[in-house]
Amino acid sequence: MNEENETRMVALVDRFYDLCDQDPDLGPFFRAAIPDMPNHKKIVVDFWSHQILGTGRYKGSVFAVHMNRGITAEQFDLWLVRFEKAAEETLTPEQRSRAMAKARHMAQSIRMGLFPFHGLEGRPPKRS
Ligand code: HEM
Repeated sequence: MNEENETRMVALVDRFYDLCDQDPDLGPFFRAAIPDMPNHKKIVVDFWSHQILGTGRYKGSVFAVHMNRGITAEQFDLWLVRFEKAAEETLTPEQRSRAMAKARHMAQSIRMGLFPFHGLEGRPPKRS
């Protein structure tokens, strides 16, 4: 991977967690749920370098890791807003659209796995 792209992946992940840290819901949640943030960031940089640049660096299982952690459906919206802002600030336009397509797809897949009865929008059905 070239050095500029590597720098962008690191900047994306750093900026994303800085933005989450300032959020009144995601901030405390991540601080409590992720004991080793430097190591977590390294894994997430590998994940995005794989997703955006196709480097093959991430070999884990994103779905399993989100089960039974007390994540709420609302947190996915907060997550995506922060991620989109971080992507806008750190990636090229082409990388950004790839990153957002992946992020939306994965957020929806994880959310559907965690909340199967909430429907496609990730929310409980409205009572009529
Ligand atoms: C509500 C939204 C989300 C919350 C609250 C959340 C929270 C977490 C937590 C607590 C971990 C475990 C961290 C650790 O023990 O080090 C984790 C891991 C991870 N998350 Fe999320 N996550 C969310 C959405 C997403 C989405 C949408 C993606 C991908 C697009 C993603 C990608 C990852 C990756 C790559 C890891 C590391 C997996 C590994 O260790 O192999 N997360 N997340």
